[in-house]
Amino acid sequence: MTRLRPRSSGELDRRSFLGLAAGAAALGCQTSPARGATSAAAQGGPVLVGSANAIAGMRLHYDELVAGGAPLDVAIEVVKVTEADPDDLSVGLGGLPNEDGVVQLDAAVMDGETHNSGAVACIENILHPCEVARLVMERTDHCMIVGRGAYDFARAHGHPHTELLLEPARQLWMEWKETMSDQDDRLPPAPKTPEHVLRGKTVDGKPVAGLDLFGADRPTGTIHCSALSTDGRVGCTTTTSGLAWKIPGRVGDSPILGAGLYCDAEAGSAGATGRGEAAILCSGSHTAVEMLRAGKSPLDAGMEVLRRVTNQARRAARWQPSLVDANGTPTFSLRFYVLGLDGRFAGVSLTAPGQYAAADENGGPRLLDLEVLHG
Ligand code: GLY
Repeated sequence: MTRLRPRSSGELDRRSFLGLAAGAAALGCQTSPARGATSAAAQGGPVLVGSANAIAGMRLHYDELVAGGAPLDVAIEVVKVTEADPDDLSVGLGGLPNEDGVVQLDAAVMDGETHNSGAVACIENILHPCEVARLVMERTDHCMIVGRGAYDFARAHGHPHTELLLEPARQLWMEWKETMSDQDDRLPPAPKTPEHVLRGKTVDGKPVAGLDLFGADRPTGTIHCSALSTDGRVGCTTTTSGLAWKIPGRVGDSPILGAGLYCDAEAGSAGATGRGEAAILCSGSHTAVEMLRAGKSPLDAGMEVLRRVTNQARRAARWQPSLVDANGTPTFSLRFYVLGLDGRFAGVSLTAPGQYAAADENGGPRLLDLEVLHG
């Protein structure tokens, strides 16, 4: 089977796009900004939308999208900034490790126009898994390569071996190990990781100090970025070090097409951060994009996905009661970032208030409040 190769110059031409939009309007689909949704340019991009920890990369690279850069190129450059940031414990360099103290990364990219994608999972010692995911898309006939194979593939393509576990994450990992149980041979209580080690460090865009790093809803450090170009092309990427202290080999939603990311040149783009298992179980990003295709606004699409997640968590709670509280509200975090071809976008959260990052013609890169389903 021959898979489509990405083309650099192809595009959804603007006339087709406007024709589709007119057709949607004739069918009664929603075309005006919805409650709480953010309206960008009247038609199309340039727009970037993603998780709050993408803001630094958006500040550096939004102008490239404005200047006509390909959306996937720009989205990848955006997330690489945080992957390489040692002060961000979410992803890549300095990321929180698995239960063995090893930083294991997952990432995927998708190009909306060619509808092609690539992914890596459980890759170790490679600084930019999103670039390796792109190589999987462009240089192989596969969609995903995992573990040692992904590392070897990256090395063969010139990516250097990099130690990703840095001192703050190592100290937090040891603190977690020493406080997990009073029935093993490690002496409790552990000395807490000192304040000065964590100063200036963030996870998912929030200061580490004050976060519950050891509870059930612990960080799933992830960056998502979706991009829409002025001429209506979309691309997206999601990259993560995954659930802190995860079982080695655990793969979350980030590298799974349709769960942690999805885009289609005929509908829009979406991505997720938070509890990956929930995003996988609802095929969340694919579902959001399909709702855009059916005419929902980005906000309504995102909220509908979160309502499904809530229903699914309530059913699953019969076997796993900790998934919901006494009121039936999910106890975990999950956020979606949804971007329509008309430039409207939304950031939605299942439970916790917070922010997401966006940039469009109405204002450069900025943080906006998430719409919360269970506020
Ligand atoms: N959402 C990232 C993960 O669960 O691994």
